[in-house]
Amino acid sequence: MFDYKRLEAVDIQGEPPRYEPERQYYYMKKCREWAEQEEERAGRPLTMSIQTLGCQMNAKDSEKMTAVLAYMGYQETVEPVADFVLYNTCTVRENANLKIYGRLGYLKNHKKKNPHMKIALCGCMMQEKDEVEKIKRSYPFVDLVFGTHNIYKLAEILYRQIQSGHRVVDVWDEPEEIVEDLPGKRKYPFRTGVNIMFGCNNFCSYCIVPYVRGRERSREPEDIIREISALVADGVVEVMLLGQNVNSYGKTLEQPISFAELLRQVEKVEGIRRIRFMTSHPKDLSDELIAVMRDSKKICPHLHLPLQSGRSSILAQMNRRYTKEQYLNLARKLKTEIPQISLTTDIIVGFPGETEEDFQETMDVVGLVGFDTAFTFIYSKRTGTPAAAMKDQVPEDVVKERFERLLKKVQETGAKVSGRQLHTVQEVLVEEVNDHDSRLMTGRLGNNTIVHFPGTEALIGKIVRVSLDEFKGFYYLGKIKNKQDKEAR
Ligand code: SAH
Ligand code: SF4
Ligand code: F3S
Repeated sequence: MFDYKRLEAVDIQGEPPRYEPERQYYYMKKCREWAEQEEERAGRPLTMSIQTLGCQMNAKDSEKMTAVLAYMGYQETVEPVADFVLYNTCTVRENANLKIYGRLGYLKNHKKKNPHMKIALCGCMMQEKDEVEKIKRSYPFVDLVFGTHNIYKLAEILYRQIQSGHRVVDVWDEPEEIVEDLPGKRKYPFRTGVNIMFGCNNFCSYCIVPYVRGRERSREPEDIIREISALVADGVVEVMLLGQNVNSYGKTLEQPISFAELLRQVEKVEGIRRIRFMTSHPKDLSDELIAVMRDSKKICPHLHLPLQSGRSSILAQMNRRYTKEQYLNLARKLKTEIPQISLTTDIIVGFPGETEEDFQETMDVVGLVGFDTAFTFIYSKRTGTPAAAMKDQVPEDVVKERFERLLKKVQETGAKVSGRQLHTVQEVLVEEVNDHDSRLMTGRLGNNTIVHFPGTEALIGKIVRVSLDEFKGFYYLGKIKNKQDKEAR
């Protein structure tokens, strides 16, 4: 749990402290003072709407920013319009950017009507100079613009904006220190992500992430374990360890440590029931890691292992540094060592130069591996990446047609493998009341498959044993098996 006493102890009468995290505590308190007055002026509680695009990294960053704004007194709303609207942006594919401009257009009129409204943009898209220029030029009503490296300075940036009354644009080219001991507000009380590293050094030729998230940096294992222990004490039973390439965790630390070793240490934290991680790059997946997963009762039997393409020559062009055969061997090894494992993947269709023959090899790998699910993406040209300058960009209609075929194949092969636990009893972490039928609860198996079963809200956050009686394509219907849990129904 975050230590709010330490925050309250900071004196805000004098100059701001030079060091973190005290400096941010100072600005959080300053902004809270301002927000209290603002609330009086408005004559109603202030609301915030935080909208997160992109990956788990962004989701985690948003949890941190939600806590900062909540401390100031902003109340969360699911409405798209609020007194503080924050978009945490993604730029991995172009359509993510287009979404943001659409939403800004919509907010413009609301801002005219509400003098208390602030609009903030942050995250990966803000690390791109052209996008920031466009916002400065065409969207003058945006109050705050900051990037990925200074998310933790939200309170300080907001304070500057309040004081000056002008828009503040503060985007850093390079990351500085990793700041520990900042508050977080979890979306679910029982589960959360934990950053173990930031940035990426892989430079896959199509990908913008290394440019917008900077070089790879790992957190110290002691800091990670300390955070997880505190989370467990606060009710968390499942953690997702986050990094763009967790398999290279710890290599850049002063005292290097492997990801497998970190997992061993996390497993020792008493009270943690489930450990997940994302994402694994196939080139760095070690035998040591497979052994740790195999021998663990807490590490979930699920691996997200992005394939991107099944053609070795395309993989080389993508700078992925593995071949089709190496990927297939790895999948085989994982399935032999951990028979109940569920493999999921990411695939890009229409990378420059992809021929029908290349594409067939991707289809081939999908059939051979049998992924539970695959996220399929149409290649999107990202300015500044090596692939954007490659010849032979594939025509749109060709890509679309291939994409449809791949989607069908992924669904067919997924349906074959993902029902394999039918008629067994498995542990389910209960997450929420079913959206469509309030008599049912919804939870997940260790391998991430969704299960619906009769139960009550009292079970949320608990792990129960459920018999999987019917498989419906991508989820199970079941019944609770455990005696005490039956009583809780
Ligand atoms: N670090 C992770 C991926 C992060 S991005 C990894 O290496 O696995 C998530 C996914 O977006 C990638 O796996 C890739 O399939 C997709 N992606 C990245 N850049 C893309 C682009 N330019 N066009 C289409 N899809 C892309
Ligand atoms: Fe992008 Fe490759 Fe890094 Fe993943 S590993 S974030 S795809 S550069
Ligand atoms: Fe998008 Fe940034 Fe994640 S570009 S996928 S939000 S690291």
